[in-house]
Amino acid sequence: MIRIDGVTKRYPDGTVAVDRLSLDIPDGAITVFVGPSGCGKTTTLRMINRMVEPSEGRILIDGEDSRRQPVNTLRRSMGYVIQNAGLFQHRTIVDNIATVPRLLGWSKEKARSRARELMERVGLDGSLAKRYPYQLSGGQQQRVGVARALAADPPVLLMDEPFSAVDPVVRKGLQDELLRIQAELGKTIVFVTHDIDEAVKLGTMVAVMRTGGRLAQYAPPAELLSDPADAFVEDFLGADRGIRRLSFFPSAELELLTGPVAAAGTGRTAARDTGDAPYLLVTDADGRPLGWAEPGLPTDGPVDPGRLLPCGRPFVAGQDSLRAALDCAVLSPTGWAVAVDGSGRVAGVVSQQAIGEAIRAAHAGGRSDGADTGASAKVAG
Ligand SMILES: Nc1ncnc2c1ncn2[C@@H]1O[C@H](COP(=O)(O)OP(=O)(O)OP(=O)(O)O)[C@@H](O)[C@H]1O
Ligand SMILES: [Mg+2]
Repeated sequence: MIRIDGVTKRYPDGTVAVDRLSLDIPDGAITVFVGPSGCGKTTTLRMINRMVEPSEGRILIDGEDSRRQPVNTLRRSMGYVIQNAGLFQHRTIVDNIATVPRLLGWSKEKARSRARELMERVGLDGSLAKRYPYQLSGGQQQRVGVARALAADPPVLLMDEPFSAVDPVVRKGLQDELLRIQAELGKTIVFVTHDIDEAVKLGTMVAVMRTGGRLAQYAPPAELLSDPADAFVEDFLGADRGIRRLSFFPSAELELLTGPVAAAGTGRTAARDTGDAPYLLVTDADGRPLGWAEPGLPTDGPVDPGRLLPCGRPFVAGQDSLRAALDCAVLSPTGWAVAVDGSGRVAGVVSQQAIGEAIRAAHAGGRSDGADTGASAKVAG
């Protein structure tokens, strides 16, 4: 565990970048520092590996004052990733990744073979190994940066806005990749961002900082969303925190109806024989959703998909959150959401009203699991 204990950083010109910061960074989890520009995030990160020395207070690594370790040993135990990856432009991708193992005295072959293994781990095609950084996209370069930081297998990764310079789609891919790598390798990751959505998505714990280097709140993301400590945190979280909080409520307890579901060609008609639901969800022969049939539309012959109402993006029952279920319901003109199993086959349907009741029940029961157990309970969608 990394303990930041009463740390202040005053730069020589008198700027107080970090002000009496105390918090514990848990092992094997992602801790995110988030806050507006200039609030001291980078300074905090750099104090952890002693690129910046605290003016007051101390940082303990597994109980030991970080100043008692030789600085090189300390830095070797902490991979560092920055925005735009900071790659060596004159080295190939494979040699960029092999940098630290080579410094540690590994043979060229061993270091390169480790580098190729890591390329695969971060989702880079092996054919890119011999290219130079300028021959890669920004997102690919960022993956190389992560691979390079992982090369000597350090227990800790420090990441300073690593994904800020790439477009939203690539960014989402990189975030998903980081979560996967974290789950596989169990690294302790300290991640800096100014994007609260990124913080909520990635963080097991999130430290919200305010200008002047003060800690505003330190909590699991679900708790930030449900109980912001003050107006600053609430404002920083943004307008739709209620909706975003639904990401932490699982959809597992929604009662799915299979009555209003029929494969095309079975001759059923909506409203007459679908019970409570006025619409009939029509699937293909494989059980995949095609769309909703309006009342009276006969489905005995082959159904023209053009005559069906769209069913939104289905949610994966039990795996996705209530937010995904609600999104599906509001995107369909019928107000009903379609649940599928892991292979995309329809598991059942659920009305907007039933989702609303589940949301109320979840709120009443305080069943935002993430609030008490951190990201281990984070729901996928
Ligand atoms: N070497 C320095 N000398 C003097 N002041 C500094 C120095 N480095 C940073 N600062 C100041 O310390 C404060 C915190 O800076 P820091 O870089 O930690 O912020 P940040 O939260 O990472 O911001 P950003 O989101 O813009 O990267 C800022 O006011 C900054 O101007
Ligand atoms: Mg910074």
